[in-house]
Amino acid sequence: MNELPKHIAIIMDGNGRWATERGKKRSEGHRAGGKALENIALYAKKIGIKILSVYAFSTDNFKRSQEEVDFLMNLLIYYFNEKLDRVAKEGVKIVFSGRREHLRDDVLQAMDNIVNKTKDNDACILNICLNYGGQEEIVDATLKIHEDLNNKLIKKEDLTRESYYKYLYQDLPPIDVLIRTGKEHRLSNFMLYQNTYAEIYFLDTYFPDFSEKHLNNVLDNYKNRDRRFGGVKTN
Ligand code: FPP
Repeated sequence: MNELPKHIAIIMDGNGRWATERGKKRSEGHRAGGKALENIALYAKKIGIKILSVYAFSTDNFKRSQEEVDFLMNLLIYYFNEKLDRVAKEGVKIVFSGRREHLRDDVLQAMDNIVNKTKDNDACILNICLNYGGQEEIVDATLKIHEDLNNKLIKKEDLTRESYYKYLYQDLPPIDVLIRTGKEHRLSNFMLYQNTYAEIYFLDTYFPDFSEKHLNNVLDNYKNRDRRFGGVKTN
């Protein structure tokens, strides 16, 4: 039987459809998604999950209408300044993964504030992927490695699949469980390096409806997943 996963990641998909199907504006779906995240982050902490990574905004999400991008950025600022305060007070350390370029100054400032405020928290980590792309992360890591090799800070033989994590946006352990809500069955450029041996769960539920019950179902199923990491079962 598998132990409780250390690192869970969620692709929070379906906010827009949740709203449209209810005759509401897409922005209402994002607002409801924010509430679902607040709830699930606290629950994950309560049951002992050490790391939760969430996909808040991809580099490709900039292709959406300016109105939707602006709404999401304002919602994120509101969350970082107000709502995540509760999460922070519970001992959660908040970190970000992604590129800073193209993000508005007020978003960067709110991100830096919450990182600073929670840097000494150690109950668990909430890694928010914002302006994030998995291929971009691998490209950025490759550039850092190139620099370290040039500056003779590392030797070629120091680079292994394990040491590579140090060059990613955050040096976090591999993902054990990846959940994607919202009916689609794809990775959408999310944490490609870290998801190598993740157990994947695709849920039909839209993210605003994702609750403790859904997470518990995933965790129950995960216990009995046969994780072989490319090897052969021995018992
Ligand atoms: C995907 O749904 C969701 C997003 C692009 C945004 C996720 C953001 C939140 C849950 C808001 C709060 C986040 C934080 C970090 C406080 P979609 O718009 O692609 O839905 P659709 O596929 O139904 O259109």
